[in-house]
Amino acid sequence: MTKTDMLACPPAMEFARNQWYVAAFSSEVGRHILRRQLLGDYVALYRTEDGTPVALADRCPHRGLPLSAGALDGDAIRCGYHGFTFAKSGQCIRVPSQATIPEKMGVRSYPLVEKSIWIWAWMGEPELADPTLIPDHKKLGLEDSNYTVTEFFRMDVPGNYQLLHENLLDVSHVTFLHPGLLDDGNVAGSKTALELADRSIRISRTMDELATPELAFAFSLEPGKRYLRTLVTETTPPGLSVIFNTHEDLANPAAPARVLISPFGITPANQSLTHQFVVTATSYEGKQPQAAIDHVWRIFEQDNVAIRAIQERYEETGQYGPEFSVKADMAALRCRLKNAELVAKDRARAA
Ligand code: FES
Ligand SMILES: [Fe+2]
Repeated sequence: MTKTDMLACPPAMEFARNQWYVAAFSSEVGRHILRRQLLGDYVALYRTEDGTPVALADRCPHRGLPLSAGALDGDAIRCGYHGFTFAKSGQCIRVPSQATIPEKMGVRSYPLVEKSIWIWAWMGEPELADPTLIPDHKKLGLEDSNYTVTEFFRMDVPGNYQLLHENLLDVSHVTFLHPGLLDDGNVAGSKTALELADRSIRISRTMDELATPELAFAFSLEPGKRYLRTLVTETTPPGLSVIFNTHEDLANPAAPARVLISPFGITPANQSLTHQFVVTATSYEGKQPQAAIDHVWRIFEQDNVAIRAIQERYEETGQYGPEFSVKADMAALRCRLKNAELVAKDRARAA
């Protein structure tokens, strides 16, 4: 597929491998084996006895049983078929049927970095895995004592990761896809401003908004009051989009703004399925209640209906387009370009 094809067809967007992606919430990985598909590869995730997270390719090189069907043996995984055992490095350290171990026998071990409440994985060439490339977590409110962090959920989105990025970058959809739930009807009509940086795309909107009961619940506001709302999506392709919601009390400008930051880890499981890791950081005290988490889950199910329909139509017909873009699409189009560039960069390295 050429770069132009990739740009024209978000349901078929490929993904760059030499990048960091969220693999799991920290809370999901422990002294058990978690099987997960990341960028088309199945991995077995677990922790060693000292708590270090490990990701091994989930296929025993002996006869192919998934290692996730085996068991932990100290810091290693023992295959459930013939007992071959693999260290966290992926190296085979035991073949029960003989004393010697073929030197080259091993599985791939993927570099991981645990930060705040989640674990980032590098699915590309290990020597390129530079942890300093992981986006700054303080900016996400995740490593900032002024913010309260709540883990929401992982949702598997039935579409290409590019469709999810475009959903988050064009929040004009909230007025129509989530009527009454995330705005007072004014997001779609608000003016946008686009800012581009080397690695990120930022689109912002400002509006005078009435705190309806739904908005008051979602953003912890006083119902019936008017606020100056700033709504920003900042995306660092390919694996992170962040939505910043800031509400300033119009009647009391001296009151501290209420800020809710929603970082989304966006990780392709494969080309038509995407893991969405959702978390919030709030400038106000108190973890988000379960009712708020459930509410967001139901809203995102509405996004899934749209994303699934676009993806399925493409897969049924093999066609996408024609497509007519408007001003509000500028950010999403930049994100497409960026992701296509990252894929092209991987290709150039491999050539
Ligand atoms: S398939 Fe794993 S030990 Fe034989
Ligand atoms: Fe949405």
